[in-house]
Amino acid sequence: MRMRILFIAMSLIGLAAEAVAAPIVGRVTEKGGGAVEGAMVSFVHGEPSRATTVFTDTDGRFRTPSLEQRPERARVRRIGWKDLDLDASQLPAKVTASPLELVIERETNPAMVAAQLPSNRWFGLLLERIEDPDHREELVRQCTYCHQQGSLATRAPRTDEEWDKVLSLMARLGGTLSADLRSQVPTLFTEAYEPTRAGPALTAGMDSADFAPPPAAAARKSVVDEWVLGGEASMQHDLVVHPDGRVYSVDMMQDQLYRLDPRVTGGDRASFAVPDGDLPLGGVFSALTPSVPNANAHVGPHSIQVAPDGAIWTTLALGNQLARFDPKAEAWSVYPLEEGYYPHTLRFDERGRVWYTAAASNHVGMYDPAEDEHHSIRLPAPTWGQAIASRILPALLWLAERVDLSDSEPAGEGMSAPVPYGIDVAPNGDIWFSQLNAHRIGRIDPETFDVEVFETPFPAPRRLRFDANGDLWIPSFSTGAISRFDLETEQFDSWRLPIEPLGSETPYALNVSPKDGSVWICGTNSDTLIRFEPASEEFTVFPLPTQVTYTREIDFDDEGRVWTSNSNLPAWQIEDASPKVIRLDPDALS
Ligand code: HEC
Repeated sequence: MRMRILFIAMSLIGLAAEAVAAPIVGRVTEKGGGAVEGAMVSFVHGEPSRATTVFTDTDGRFRTPSLEQRPERARVRRIGWKDLDLDASQLPAKVTASPLELVIERETNPAMVAAQLPSNRWFGLLLERIEDPDHREELVRQCTYCHQQGSLATRAPRTDEEWDKVLSLMARLGGTLSADLRSQVPTLFTEAYEPTRAGPALTAGMDSADFAPPPAAAARKSVVDEWVLGGEASMQHDLVVHPDGRVYSVDMMQDQLYRLDPRVTGGDRASFAVPDGDLPLGGVFSALTPSVPNANAHVGPHSIQVAPDGAIWTTLALGNQLARFDPKAEAWSVYPLEEGYYPHTLRFDERGRVWYTAAASNHVGMYDPAEDEHHSIRLPAPTWGQAIASRILPALLWLAERVDLSDSEPAGEGMSAPVPYGIDVAPNGDIWFSQLNAHRIGRIDPETFDVEVFETPFPAPRRLRFDANGDLWIPSFSTGAISRFDLETEQFDSWRLPIEPLGSETPYALNVSPKDGSVWICGTNSDTLIRFEPASEEFTVFPLPTQVTYTREIDFDDEGRVWTSNSNLPAWQIEDASPKVIRLDPDALS
């Protein structure tokens, strides 16, 4: 009976959607001028909203895919022109009406043009002032892993005293700097972002056609959909596409699991509280780290994957647990770690065993649900100092429960811990991981648990992934490059991301499309997704519509569309203060 009602309900939804579904076509021109190529045209409806964005061609023309509903708002955007915002009254009552003629106006105020540029352009001004390459690398690695650098919130002018306060807070949250660099930061930031200097530097040549060129033709064939999910106190960390077509993501700051069904008009959203087991705010680390303002994080769900049986698993980084969500029963099971701290990224092997990095204690853990068996592997640390840093945590937690450390600022020790980070399972079943701060990757034999490590010729290897040939792809977070590791020859091939200025991009994660083997990379500091085609060694940069789109994970659906989430922490630094789930269809309009 229930099935039948569901079936009828679904056909009604289908009918309703069909009744309004149609593409919108139109043209974008410049006031008193010609066609505007490469403008982003976004149509928005619903609350929480869902937006669809397309790009104009060389003639200024655009065409959306069939929209599921009449849009309530629209926006035309291109760097160098003023945003054009339209409300429902300015949009045709019927989506099938005559083509929309949209006229945009040049932005002639250099300060406003500079404000349209992505964060990485501003951050570049800062990086070019840092002479010591090690300092530059350290600043990138330590200051860009929660939020973009160079965004409006982070570049606001501050006095040295105000900078000092910001830096203390950042250090207590985890963004520690060595004393030497830390002492230089206030002046560095003040000088780099000084408006009378920064504006002209960023907008030099803004009247020439080469300034902020339109996205490449290949990128203009894409369609980007964005669903608002979560609120301004959220941190929507990772997401995964379920084989049933729904998308799950975790809100690390609000202890929620979200489910989005993109096939339902507007997006059907559901939210499930992760059990917090009566843990205090901050979980097992509550005594050590202050929590982010507005956070309600007791267990901190972080990474998310689908098990071979269709269950959803997440690492509870702050609760020091793994959790399994049964999507049919909508029920949770929680598995505390037996050893190790801060379960971080997880992946499944073919036998359905969970492998995860334990970032704060330098372990990789394995949990076998079939046998209810845990195993943990302590990874080698490159130096004595790092070995101690990763063993000291239980003692620190013990101490922190007895002595109030909440106001003291860690003096950079956090940086020297190796921090196991990304993890993936090779086609032959071996487990590979990265150690972010140790600049290494390593292999674990899944039978003997033997570990072998390899130095990377680049710093900060973050979230790595295998392709179908068994090559390992690795982003270098702090140098804006990607690398391919050939397991047989043990050789690395590296490519710099084509994001200007070079080195201002911070690729957090990448993933390999099962459809065509292309490598998709998070353009974490430049509001982009970047595609790399290994055969031609060609990059394509796909701009995303929302300023301050900070991405940390990539997944694909059955049709080869690319999914990610805007995970900037804090979410209130995002352009409209709303985190989003994002889908990019690279070939939608080809
Ligand atoms: C562990 C996460 C994290 C790291 C790492 C981090 N930040 Fe932040 N940052 C935050 C959060 C959360 C806020 C918002 C804090 C608030 O408004 O109370 C923030 C806000 C800021 C702001 C805006 C402050 C304001 O008053 O609005 C600046 C500037 C900033 N961070 C700079 C930095 C710098 C420089 C570093 C590197 C030393 C850094 N951040 C590293 C989490 C982080």
